Amino acid sequence: ETIQDYCYDEAAFDYHDRAYIPLQVADAPEQPLRIPEILKPDQETATDVYYTITAQTGAVQLLPGKKTATWGYNGPLLGKTVIFKDGQTVHIHYINDLPEVTTFHWHGLAIPGPIEDGGCHAPVYPGQTRDVEFTIHQPAAFVWLHAHPCPATAEQVWHGLAGGAIVQDQHEAQLPLPRNYGVDDIPVILQDRRFHEDNQWDYRQDYDPDGILGPTPMINGTINPYFDVTTQKVRLRFLNGANRREWRLHFSDDLPFTQIAGDLSLLPKPLKMTKLMLTCAERAEIIVDFGSYRPGDEVVLYSDDTPLLRFKIHEFKPDHAALPNVLFETPNPAVAPEMPIHYVTLDGMDEAVAMNGKKFKMDRIDYQMPMHKVQLWDIENTNHAPGMIHPYHMHGTGFVTVARDGHAPNPNELGLKDTIAINPGEHVLLKVWFDVPGVFMYHCHILEHEDGGMMAQLKVVDPKNPNKQYQLMDHMTL
Ligand code: C2O
Ligand code: CU
Ligand code: CU
Repeated sequence: ETIQDYCYDEAAFDYHDRAYIPLQVADAPEQPLRIPEILKPDQETATDVYYTITAQTGAVQLLPGKKTATWGYNGPLLGKTVIFKDGQTVHIHYINDLPEVTTFHWHGLAIPGPIEDGGCHAPVYPGQTRDVEFTIHQPAAFVWLHAHPCPATAEQVWHGLAGGAIVQDQHEAQLPLPRNYGVDDIPVILQDRRFHEDNQWDYRQDYDPDGILGPTPMINGTINPYFDVTTQKVRLRFLNGANRREWRLHFSDDLPFTQIAGDLSLLPKPLKMTKLMLTCAERAEIIVDFGSYRPGDEVVLYSDDTPLLRFKIHEFKPDHAALPNVLFETPNPAVAPEMPIHYVTLDGMDEAVAMNGKKFKMDRIDYQMPMHKVQLWDIENTNHAPGMIHPYHMHGTGFVTVARDGHAPNPNELGLKDTIAINPGEHVLLKVWFDVPGVFMYHCHILEHEDGGMMAQLKVVDPKNPNKQYQLMDHMTL
């Protein structure tokens, strides 16, 4: 059975917004898709790895004519791909070479908060540095790094502060899946921008409190990209790195593809599909089998009706090996009987967005939860139809999706996730637990909603150190 539907409420798709900006192919020559290099460690031992990550300004030739002023990590735009290995201890030296304060948030890593996690309580001021250390204990996944200063996350990500990271583990490593990075295993970071005079971006001018949009697709920081296919099967690691936009992905000829992973793990079983919707911050790994094409053919990836990325088919060795039928066993720990359901509401639109009726406050802890206890969380989108879909995200953990309004979750939501799309009026039930202590944010991942206050934070209490105090920022001066 092939899934041929985007699974969410069509009436709430972003193209119904009054302020929606449709995608349009840029008037520019095609370019090879930029594949971010793998970030080289400063040092690596059997147990530890050391990285330096610099947030910097730069300029990139995105369109013919003037270069676009951009921000990036260890380069002018976006980041290099960071490799993390399950069990490894990671030491990172951050450098802020930007003209304003930033933070370095690992979206999807289950590491202590708020400092290692890198949300708004871990500022690095201009010209300053910060060192963090954490150990990776989680399944193979595609996660990401992005800026998270309050309330300028949206603007800094728009400038380019986002990059992918691959978590590797021994289980995934022994499955027969493509993993030759840059050849048959590529990140595909989906973003959109508006180019103003002299090819510059202007966040303030394009600002929309429900999320900024631009007409031009930008994939891995490339405009009008193509990719040379030299193997029959290619693994695409999609990341919706847009501030606001939903991507409704499908290929020319309705070519079916196989989703193998969601945000934070492989799926239990591979899923054949022809359509895939990703809301902000969600990831999906798919395998595309180009076996029915010949050299010279072109296969196009679209969002709605706009081409995003062209796959140019070259000679390849036939590879008819079947994918494994079973990929992953999703953990399903029992809910702690003493923990009542915790309710979260995503409220309002525009400047009035809030969570549980309140706007985010940096020095207010909204909830406390003991470490390792499993609890059901009920997330409700209180915008009624035809309101918008909110992508709900939690720091510091991966959750299990239990139900959507009492029904089974979508079939591609059965692995671990950290971001889940909530339809207008819908309740989504999650199983939530934390294996690391600290203060963590949870919020809508439409970045302007997050900056606008549709966000809260919880304290995860380690029973071995229940009185640990965290120093919380009360504001940030940009
Ligand atoms: Cu992508 Cu608060 O994070
Ligand atoms: Cu996050
Ligand atoms: Cu939202």
